[in-house]
Amino acid sequence: MSLDILRLFKDRNAVVSGEKISAELGISRAAVWKKIEALRKKGFVIKAVPSKGYQLLHYPDLSPEGILLRLDSGLFKEVLFYQSLDSTNKRALSLASKEGIGSGTVIIADSQDKGKGRLGRSWFSPSGANIYMSIVLQPEIAPRDATLITVIAALACAAALRTATGLEFRIKWPNDIVYSGKKTGGILTEIRSDPDKILMAVIGIGINVNTGGDQFPEELRPIATSVRSETGRHHSRNEIIIGILREFEGRYLLFKDKGRGPLIKELRTLSSTIGQKVRVIVGNEVITGIAEDIDDEGVLLLRTASGEPRRISSGDLTMLR
Ligand code: BTN
Repeated sequence: MSLDILRLFKDRNAVVSGEKISAELGISRAAVWKKIEALRKKGFVIKAVPSKGYQLLHYPDLSPEGILLRLDSGLFKEVLFYQSLDSTNKRALSLASKEGIGSGTVIIADSQDKGKGRLGRSWFSPSGANIYMSIVLQPEIAPRDATLITVIAALACAAALRTATGLEFRIKWPNDIVYSGKKTGGILTEIRSDPDKILMAVIGIGINVNTGGDQFPEELRPIATSVRSETGRHHSRNEIIIGILREFEGRYLLFKDKGRGPLIKELRTLSSTIGQKVRVIVGNEVITGIAEDIDDEGVLLLRTASGEPRRISSGDLTMLR
């Protein structure tokens, strides 16, 4: 990674002389030029300003260097980028178990050919458009709090998208990111744990950022949307990823400090589900009723047409009109 040279361009629009780069990095002017060329090949737009130096005008849409440089995080220490993977979750699980990658590593791919969704579904993951990332964490929390990690991720996605777009993205129970009733993103958390301790959590996040409405497979068109479809403009994936990681870290620290209360409160506020008529499939059972609330454990409280209260901790939910 070329973080050393990129750090010198941290002040936006700064023109940095070749001499300064060479002195700071302790390399020759020819080596500076090679580094600049390598960055350009990765998609960084670097202008040569005659007799002054170099100016970094533009980061690539998806670049681990751009993320790490601007994140300044105590939680996320490494970003691994792949052009293509089967699944970022799968890679994260295997790197964590075989190579022991550390807590706070983020794995990002430009495309996935076996993207995993919840309930054994697949996740549409074309190249050049969207966010597919997995966060590896060894959270110091009890297994009974594991659902809260997914809640933190969902809240972080909604907040980051709100900042990037000005639009109010909402959370459809349990953890879909939706806008006008259509799915924009989803979260798949995979946990390895002992009875009393989470050994590792892989939090997989998929956000439809720049896929055009007509580029979704036909069966997804009625139920899926992208950020671009809603705002009418292209969005930087790096900006949104940085936003998600910052919002995640803030809420993770809040959780450790103040417990689940503030997060559940935010979840209730952003929920698109509470107060709605819904159908939930739990295993072989189909339950229809009004979603009355989400309790402090993230469990959906539903009242059936016959007035029977039900507590549902996981399932596949459809909103009914
Ligand atoms: C859902 O079904 O709503 C969850 C979708 C999660 C998709 C993401 S994309 C990045 C990560 N890697 C995967 O294989 N799946 C998750």
